[in-house]
Amino acid sequence: MTMQTPTGSPLGASPLPDRQVPVLPAGLPDPAQLARLATEFFSALPGGATTPDTSAGNGAVGGVPSALPAAAPILSSVSNPAPPGSPLAGPGGTGTGVPGLSLPQGKVPGANLLPGAPTHILSLGNRAPALAPHAAAQNGLPDNVVTIAPALEPRAGGAALGVPPVQGGGPVSAGSATRSAASSSHASTDAAPASPFYFMDTPGRGWSRSGEDFIMPGNGTAAPASFGLPGEQDLRELLSIHRFAPAADPYGVPRGGAPYFAEGAHARTDRHASGAAVPAGHPPFDVNAIRRDFPILQERVNGKQLIWFDNAATTQKPQSVIDRLSYFYQHENSNIHRAAHTLAGRATDAYEHARETVQRFIGASSPEEIVFVRGTTEAINLIAKSWGEQNVGAGDEIVVSHLEHHANIVPWQQLASQKGAKLRVIPVDDSGQVLLDEYRKLLNDRTKIVSVTQVSNALGTVVPVAEIVDMAHRVGAKALVDGAQSVSHMRVDVQALDADFFVFSGHKIFGPTGIGVVYGKRALLEDMPPWQGGGNMIADVTFERTVFQPPPSRFEAGTGNIADAVGLAAALEYVTRIGIENIARHEHDLLAYATSVLAPVPGVRLIGTAHDKASVLSFVLKGYTTEEVGQALSQEGIAVRAGHHCAQPILRRFGLEATVRPSLAFYNTCDEVDAMISVVRRLSTRRA
Ligand code: ALA
Repeated sequence: MTMQTPTGSPLGASPLPDRQVPVLPAGLPDPAQLARLATEFFSALPGGATTPDTSAGNGAVGGVPSALPAAAPILSSVSNPAPPGSPLAGPGGTGTGVPGLSLPQGKVPGANLLPGAPTHILSLGNRAPALAPHAAAQNGLPDNVVTIAPALEPRAGGAALGVPPVQGGGPVSAGSATRSAASSSHASTDAAPASPFYFMDTPGRGWSRSGEDFIMPGNGTAAPASFGLPGEQDLRELLSIHRFAPAADPYGVPRGGAPYFAEGAHARTDRHASGAAVPAGHPPFDVNAIRRDFPILQERVNGKQLIWFDNAATTQKPQSVIDRLSYFYQHENSNIHRAAHTLAGRATDAYEHARETVQRFIGASSPEEIVFVRGTTEAINLIAKSWGEQNVGAGDEIVVSHLEHHANIVPWQQLASQKGAKLRVIPVDDSGQVLLDEYRKLLNDRTKIVSVTQVSNALGTVVPVAEIVDMAHRVGAKALVDGAQSVSHMRVDVQALDADFFVFSGHKIFGPTGIGVVYGKRALLEDMPPWQGGGNMIADVTFERTVFQPPPSRFEAGTGNIADAVGLAAALEYVTRIGIENIARHEHDLLAYATSVLAPVPGVRLIGTAHDKASVLSFVLKGYTTEEVGQALSQEGIAVRAGHHCAQPILRRFGLEATVRPSLAFYNTCDEVDAMISVVRRLSTRRA
């Protein structure tokens, strides 16, 4: 087995006497066998390569290709495999990069110098011999050599971190190579580069694999157990744990237009069997295992374990996202699309891989249809200020729904007032669902764009956007779907929706803040003018005129949020490994349960009772301000949003200025719901 380090690293410069194959003592498991066993084990987990998520049909909503390639599994991306109380159990994201494997820091010689970076499963077999010098420090190898080596190890298995796999000196990413070339001001005059990066003249250089980079300590005397790592027997035992029961059709709901929230409260039938709401007949969803991937869920707030019910405001981040960001800054950080050096190549490739990951996640037809922005607000502003500026004129009409977030109202209002256009609003019924018949009446040949949310952030209503888009197209209007509140809860396929634009924020789907996405149909983006000017978005500049890049670079002026785009890709890969349909099912059941226990509390008024809902329970409690309820919950470590949720028009439609808004994610549990309900009940008893 081998260990790689980038050329030019301190390790590469060390006068190492080794680079020889170690001889393992008799009786030690063969590292290759360990790696095979480990891969087999993690493949059996929800994030494993054999998860059927990648086989989820094709074409229609709910049957889109999952499309993320079945990458080799990563240790850090899966949940703690060890049962509670086991000596193997530990908090998610231990220094081993092996969930559930706590390194006894400071107890094993050298162990506290182990890397924090996530490690490719295939490297597990590398670990024991690679770490051997720590256990037998008399071999003459300086500590820094053996500690640097594993830290850099993920380079060889970069796919696990969202880095495209490197195969020799071949192209790392055709998409990025194309765009990199197009981004170069020399692109039109230079010969086509032979390497994946326009600035690299020697294929196979930089961070690609090289035989000379492999380092192997000369001493093979350590056992995996010396480092808190599982040995052969451990792995065999772990392999016998089946946390996800096999299911004939684990992706059976919701699809084919079936209501997302159709079953009602009776759907909850088996809560205590798994710690989550599991209707009979569904495969178990091990929420406790999922929770171990999110370190912040162990946080204590006001003396209580945090209960995060503010997911509509922002979601928490799994260890794999945290690790990916850290890895980027430790090993890849550079500006992109420029500079003739290796790290620019790494950063460019990671960034463009992120674009491709987003493309696959939402079913876009090409990465060029994906523009990175700061978030949903900036995304809608981009469309209003670019497409809107060009296509909306005096007397034209823009349609939004009464449910919209301010981010999907204000930019259109600004455009309308600037152009002399009119903003028209689709009304909702008393449950908070849009009235399609009223919508139909609003449409006419002056309608230029219809911009609607897919899920209401204030009420949780799932809006029938496919019908809305279709009806917009029938009058020749374009359609924008705001996916900020939907993308983490349900399968999105922009081609099946036929949306002209789809926008969302990374931080609402377990990714970082400050990164978001505009999807636009290619033909539309190509016709749109840039909305900001500067570097990165130009092909050529003179004082007389500027030639712009094609999309998506045309809309990405200046240095973008490179690291957080990469972190977003890690989040989407995490969600894909869990399976968006598994997530949807768990949340559906959790929402049904929460609704069934909150609604009967005396004095509670639920706001938003549509048949199709996702994630949100907005309510007011008689006798209390929403701030008082929010504070009482916070005292118990329960985080909810209390206020207008940046959606004042829809709250006013219900005669309110504010609500209390618990919002759920797939790491939430019925026990957490119970904790919240007991606070609301206590308040209710006092005043309601
Ligand atoms: N849009 C976010 C929310 O609904 C901030 O809370």
